[in-house]
Amino acid sequence: MQREYTNKNVVVTGSFSGIGRAVATAYASEGANVFLVDANPRIEEASEAIAAQTQAKVTAIHCDISDANHVERAFSDIERIDVLIANAGIEAATPIDGPMNVYLEKFKRISEVNITGTYLTIAFARQRMAAGSSIVITSSIWGKTAVPDFAAYNASKHANLGLMRTLAKELGPHGIRVNAVCPGWVKTGPAMESLRILANEKNCSEEALLKELSEEQCFGEVQSPEDVAFAYLMLTSKYSINVTGQAINADRGALLT
Ligand SMILES: NC(=O)c1ccc[n+]([C@@H]2O[C@H](COP(=O)([O-])OP(=O)(O)OC[C@H]3O[C@@H](n4cnc5c(N)ncnc54)[C@H](O)[C@@H]3O)[C@@H](O)[C@H]2O)c1
Repeated sequence: MQREYTNKNVVVTGSFSGIGRAVATAYASEGANVFLVDANPRIEEASEAIAAQTQAKVTAIHCDISDANHVERAFSDIERIDVLIANAGIEAATPIDGPMNVYLEKFKRISEVNITGTYLTIAFARQRMAAGSSIVITSSIWGKTAVPDFAAYNASKHANLGLMRTLAKELGPHGIRVNAVCPGWVKTGPAMESLRILANEKNCSEEALLKELSEEQCFGEVQSPEDVAFAYLMLTSKYSINVTGQAINADRGALLT
């Protein structure tokens, strides 16, 4: 039986680890040809592992999404892109009262990767996308709310939603849908580092904070990257053909409370 993503070319940025890796694996499991785009020089290892696990065609592309030349080159060998997951992003604390010489550089780098890099990714991928294709940006529930000490990251995730809404209008007439997934807390390296910082500020243990975060959700534990991947498959599938310009929370209801 032909599956939803058989013969579809799916590009996932930030797919060496975390959410991007799980999303790329999910598409590969559904029969897609997957292109992994990541700044980690070991990206080839990820592509070999996903190919072995899923039997799909997986291609590794080493690329820093904040560099326009890199991004242009990254997509130059891909004939057609059916699905683009603009997921690569970085996070770090940037407290407003922190030392400016440290945090200004962090603020600039977060903006460069999360905002400019997402824009460049879409701008170059779009040249290979035709009517019926679809784009999903990874924003965050922090793109809809505010967490103290993370101004650069929060601002970048709000910016991702502005970008998504604008491009949904701009690319809609060309038959291209643009949406965002806003994950809640997901157990990945950078998120657990942020958790450590917040636990430290609250003077509680990381385990206690994880428990508190789970209790803020409508159900379940804090998610794994694999849990979040389903939202991407849904948004780029035939079941979402009338959905564009939307920021879907994949947070087990955490933002409701
Ligand atoms: N983990 C969470 O709780 C959470 C919640 C909401 C949103 N997010 C978002 O999910 C996305 C993935 O984050 P994650 O938690 O899986 O972290 P992660 O570090 O595991 O994954 C990020 C990936 O992006 C890659 N990357 C970083 N900078 C890059 C660049 N300049 N060019 C290309 N690749 C680059 C990294 O090598 C890595 O593979 C990010 O956009 C993050 O903001 C994460």
